[in-house]
Amino acid sequence: MTQQGLADLNVPERVLRTSQIKVHGEEGFEGMRRAGKIAAECLDMLAAHVQPGVLTDELDRLAREFTLDHGATPACLFYRGYPKTVCISPNHVVCHGIPGERYLREGDILNIDVTVIVDGWHGDTSRMYGVGDVPPRARRLVDVTFEALQRGLAVVKPGARFGDIGAAIQIYVEAQRCSVVRDFCGHGLGQVFHDSPNVLHFGRKGEGELIKPGMLFTIEPMVNLGKPQVKVLSDGWTAVTRDKSLSAQFEHSVGVTESGCEIFTLSPAGLDKPPIQGLG
Ligand code: MF3
Ligand code: CO
Ligand code: CO
Repeated sequence: MTQQGLADLNVPERVLRTSQIKVHGEEGFEGMRRAGKIAAECLDMLAAHVQPGVLTDELDRLAREFTLDHGATPACLFYRGYPKTVCISPNHVVCHGIPGERYLREGDILNIDVTVIVDGWHGDTSRMYGVGDVPPRARRLVDVTFEALQRGLAVVKPGARFGDIGAAIQIYVEAQRCSVVRDFCGHGLGQVFHDSPNVLHFGRKGEGELIKPGMLFTIEPMVNLGKPQVKVLSDGWTAVTRDKSLSAQFEHSVGVTESGCEIFTLSPAGLDKPPIQGLG
């Protein structure tokens, strides 16, 4: 990483700021690897518990215990007043669904989003799960959303621009006759949960800031089967599609390397895309 000139400055972790976007060194990558691994392992653990009749609050409790047992801190708990460890967003919930007295039902699709802090570093990741047999249109939405994240990740390398990520995702998603949510975005992260830049999941190639080695951020496209508009419920968190269409999301935390990116939140169990049972 380019840190020359900072060696004798008393800057923690020698973060280099180019424009507003921080550039991190090996220490940051090592911290992000530890945090990302625990976040991914938490989602791996939850996969077996996504069953009909399970309360979303029970999944939250399991995630909280897992996080604490691994010496990590739940980043979402009490973040801006958020009351739980994870976000659980079923069916037409776009993001930030609050776990509670809601039972999982056969045919549901749901996103579980976990963020942990390990030695000050944030690991932020989410996946889609299916409950029992899931109808074909929901399975297709999950497939499209997973592929959208892969298309975004494939763009990340030094010299590309943030707009290239958004364009790759938007072009793919719209060609599948789905829509990209505009109201929420990916974000820089590291020792800060939501840092600069906003990583938009739509846009135009060649626009936005240059991507540089050492940048740390998430890509987390939300894709709707219907129109892109969302509204936030009166709890102040739960975002739903305005047209009640199904919504899906996947998220990884990444660091830019000299040749591409390192994904910190890959599933050690190979469950990056948990299998969803078919119906019809
Ligand atoms: N993990 C979410 C993200 O991807 C943020 C959740 S903030 C919370 O950025 F407060 F709703 F938990
Ligand atoms: Co995020
Ligand atoms: Co997240």
